[in-house]
Amino acid sequence: MLVSLKSLIFFVILIKCILSIEISKLKLTENKSKLKIDLNYKTLINNNNSSAYLPYLNYRDKPYTVSWDKRSLIINSVDRILIQSGSLHYPRIHYSEWLNVIKLAKSTGINTIDCYVFWAYHELLPNIYDFESENRNILKWFDLLKSEGLFVLLRIGPYVDAEYNYGGLPIWLRHSNFTGIIYRTLNPQWLVQMQKFVEIILKLINPYLAENGGNIFMLQIENEYGNVESTYGNLGYEYMLWSTIMAQSICNKCMWIMCKQVDAPDTIVNSCNDYYCHKFLPNHWKKFPNQVGIWTENWIGSPGWTGWNNGKPHRPIQDFTYAITAFIAASGGMYNTYMLYGGTNYERMQSQGHTVTYSFDPPILEIQIPNPKHFTHYKNLVQTINYYVPALLANGNIIDPIIINLNISIYEYGNSVTFILNSGMENQSISYKNNDYLIWAWSALIIDGQTLNIVFNSADLSDNIPPVITKQFNFTEFESIQFYPETKLMEIKNYDFIISTQLLEQISVTDDKSDYLIYSTIITFTKAQVENQSVLLTIPLYNEAFYVYLNGTFLDSKFSFQDRQYELNLNLTNIKNLQSNVSYELQFISLTMGLPPYGTFLEQSLRGIAVKPTDKIFLDNTLLNDGNRLWIHSAGLVGEINHFYNSSKSDELKWLNYSEYSNSTLNWFKLTFRTPTNIITDSDNLYQLNMMGMTRGWLYLNDHILSRYWTIVADNKTNPCDEICDYRGSYTPAKCRFDCLKPQQILYHFPKEWLTQDRNQLNQLILFEEGIADPTKIFISITAVNNNENIMKDIVE
Ligand SMILES: *[C@@H]1O[C@H](CO)[C@@H](O)[C@H](O)[C@H]1NC(C)=O
Ligand SMILES: *[C@@H]1O[C@H](CO)[C@@H](O)[C@H](O)[C@H]1NC(C)=O
Ligand SMILES: *[C@@H]1O[C@H](CO)[C@@H](O)[C@H](O)[C@H]1NC(C)=O
Ligand SMILES: *[C@@H]1O[C@H](CO)[C@@H](O)[C@H](O)[C@H]1NC(C)=O
Ligand SMILES: *[C@@H]1O[C@H](CO)[C@@H](O)[C@H](O)[C@H]1NC(C)=O
Ligand SMILES: *[C@@H]1O[C@H](CO)[C@@H](O)[C@H](O)[C@H]1NC(C)=O
Ligand SMILES: *[C@@H]1O[C@H](CO)[C@@H](O)[C@H](O)[C@H]1NC(C)=O
Ligand SMILES: *[C@@H]1O[C@H](CO)[C@@H](O)[C@H](O)[C@H]1NC(C)=O
Ligand SMILES: *[C@@H]1O[C@H](CO)[C@@H](O)[C@H](O)[C@H]1NC(C)=O
Ligand SMILES: *[C@@H]1O[C@H](CO)[C@@H](O)[C@H](O)[C@H]1NC(C)=O
Ligand SMILES: *[C@@H]1O[C@H](CO)[C@@H](O)[C@H](O)[C@H]1NC(C)=O
Ligand SMILES: *[C@@H]1O[C@H](CO)[C@@H](O)[C@H](O)[C@H]1NC(C)=O
Repeated sequence: MLVSLKSLIFFVILIKCILSIEISKLKLTENKSKLKIDLNYKTLINNNNSSAYLPYLNYRDKPYTVSWDKRSLIINSVDRILIQSGSLHYPRIHYSEWLNVIKLAKSTGINTIDCYVFWAYHELLPNIYDFESENRNILKWFDLLKSEGLFVLLRIGPYVDAEYNYGGLPIWLRHSNFTGIIYRTLNPQWLVQMQKFVEIILKLINPYLAENGGNIFMLQIENEYGNVESTYGNLGYEYMLWSTIMAQSICNKCMWIMCKQVDAPDTIVNSCNDYYCHKFLPNHWKKFPNQVGIWTENWIGSPGWTGWNNGKPHRPIQDFTYAITAFIAASGGMYNTYMLYGGTNYERMQSQGHTVTYSFDPPILEIQIPNPKHFTHYKNLVQTINYYVPALLANGNIIDPIIINLNISIYEYGNSVTFILNSGMENQSISYKNNDYLIWAWSALIIDGQTLNIVFNSADLSDNIPPVITKQFNFTEFESIQFYPETKLMEIKNYDFIISTQLLEQISVTDDKSDYLIYSTIITFTKAQVENQSVLLTIPLYNEAFYVYLNGTFLDSKFSFQDRQYELNLNLTNIKNLQSNVSYELQFISLTMGLPPYGTFLEQSLRGIAVKPTDKIFLDNTLLNDGNRLWIHSAGLVGEINHFYNSSKSDELKWLNYSEYSNSTLNWFKLTFRTPTNIITDSDNLYQLNMMGMTRGWLYLNDHILSRYWTIVADNKTNPCDEICDYRGSYTPAKCRFDCLKPQQILYHFPKEWLTQDRNQLNQLILFEEGIADPTKIFISITAVNNNENIMKDIVE
């Protein structure tokens, strides 16, 4: 994702080539008049009348009402507004970077930010809330959005999915205090917990609500419940109704929505989440003739489809802008870009299967620069729409399209603006108001009603000038590299463990505070097994990975992307002096990397090894979970439990010099370095760790828990990458994948704030590595951003 100066230049040359091809093709046609984008159209956009494009500024700090009709949202019963929105998730942006990201988001021309509330992030234990500390201070988040003049759609859920760990639900709901709870249905315990949290949130945000002059103008209850409702039978429908009554009774003046909920009462607005929602509108209005058309999730960068083990999803921007334009043409009143900025799954935020980067290809990249591939094209659309808002909303009219043929429809908003859509796979020429227009395949044109010039063409990227200049550096100057084996810690440190004759379910033991649960038991080998130097392990897994150790010696490991039973031939050749009828400690290190975010009956989801009563583990023909054998469970690594990743505690360890490391597994590493200074001004530098040489584990920087890391290479099987990405035709996440056969995530963003400002102090990067590692290959990738070419030229590498 990093852009070097070279690739920018290449990009500009590429655009020039495309332009020249286009011009030469045009000469072949007879229709010369209106075939090209009006290059002066930028004078139309950049509409900096902020009270027009940031409507909230007109109401800030004065109580106002929000209502709607079919055409649009209406403020104070008179002012029609059109909502262009983008999603930002405050936990996924370090609070020191909130303002920076908000300003970048605002620079696109949108007027609203969509975000969830993440229940588990705030209610840490039952009735113990944190809405104050650092990243959890959501009122500060709303304050920043408010001061920037942005409305907020707050999606309370409190089940949110969002590829967030456990869909945002607190792990303590699994505690035995809540035995019998069934989430998201008419279950008394669930209703109590859900309502309590919604009440807490409404009380907290009260001053930020529209009725009090705040910027939170719309709220969502539940999330995509329509997808799972039928699984819960009649109780599902009754729960959905209960949610709406509960929400409206807590705030009856609030505007409430439910996404993908076609059976909610008419007072709760149903909304669309999909790649395209212009075809949703006619059906929506058939069912709810007075509801505004809202599109809560228009996916780009497809975080929901980004797994560790397959290529990155890419939605072509031509298709994304086509979809938005089509929705606006069809009189949609609000759409939201999901995600405008994806951010970072810090600590334990990501759900099962998802990467630390929440979205690899949104309009604003994780390192907080505009995405050179498509930011400007998207921004031009947003601003073009802003320019025509008064015309679009005039009289509250819904425009019926003029159907030219199967693929071409025209939406004409008086003499002000016209949209022409081509849903076919081929270019077509048409004549409109005595002008000839070339309508590119699978495209949407916006035509100024006065000049009849094309002011936006979704399929033409020639307007996409990358807006910033970047330069990238590799910082490798580590002052020391040391390590300490976790297996050594296991020997010397006392830690808590649970003994049971069953293998226990993982989350019930770890409370999801660690990825690791170590199951161990004592075994002996037979003479035949010792002679054969091999033994067959049959083991059912419900997790992402597990490791087998015998008295501290690594035997085997398995990555697993689905629950299944494995058969592993354990090779015992490396066990020194292997003997029969002698005790050995067999250890399984079971590892989770986030809990499932989506699906029904999440309260029943299981992690760990052989956790179902019918599951059987065999060592050759010996049943290991026979109900008599004792299993010792220890939750978390010894280094984790003792916080050896914190600088004060890490001094307690007698770290070994890296030169003594010889390819062992399960090690802590400590790297020290001074904060780099040689790169333009500090504020312009964006940091990422490049984890080349490492396998998988956890990252800690100067007492901060950064995230998991995993350098696994994306396969080219599950979702093969496309050699050529054709933007035309309905997008699916299987299309246009990129970066197959490359590590899915090698770069890990951290906030600059975490580095020491004192050159005499060393930064401490501590990491836990599960596999064989070469930490000498780690480096810090620094991206400098500056729009002054001369400064960029002068930088010494
Ligand atoms: C449509 O026309 C444009 C402009 O000439 C051209 O660049 C593009 O390749 C054409 N697309 C198709 C599918 O023919
Ligand atoms: C030019 O436009 C006319 C109608 O205005 C149409 O009949 C003709 O096919 C067009 N030619 C091309 C090459 O698109
Ligand atoms: C509005 O935009 C114009 C042109 O971009 C610029 O010259 C002017 O300073 C802007 N005005 C304000 C108030 O931002
Ligand atoms: C700015 O926009 C507002 C609201 O649309 C409008 O009333 C006002 O006349 C505009 N001002 C200018 C200078 O265009
Ligand atoms: C469970 O309930 C007991 C008794 O009310 C309480 O002390 C304890 O904190 C609760 N634990 C959890 C995790 O809810
Ligand atoms: C519409 O598009 C389809 C798919 O490209 C094409 O097969 C069909 O011929 C087009 N129809 C018209 C009337 O242009
Ligand atoms: C930094 O390292 C990466 C990966 O090895 C390499 O592709 C890139 O060219 C390097 N950048 C610079 C400026 O040396
Ligand atoms: C010896 O090990 C091999 C696999 O390594 C296995 O196929 C074979 O059945 C084993 N023989 C005995 C007697 O266990
Ligand atoms: C077991 O490991 C040893 C040493 O790594 C190797 O030489 C041998 O081929 C392995 N045996 C099997 C059956 O894989
Ligand atoms: C393996 O570890 C167990 C448990 O710690 C110990 O009792 C046993 O002596 C060890 N076996 C060997 C062969 O070292
Ligand atoms: C460690 O592993 C690397 C790569 O797997 C290998 O090149 C190197 O020889 C190994 N070193 C030792 C001491 O085994
Ligand atoms: C992935 O597979 C597809 C076909 O299945 C192929 O076209 C493409 O070249 C492959 N990509 C890579 C990076 O190997």
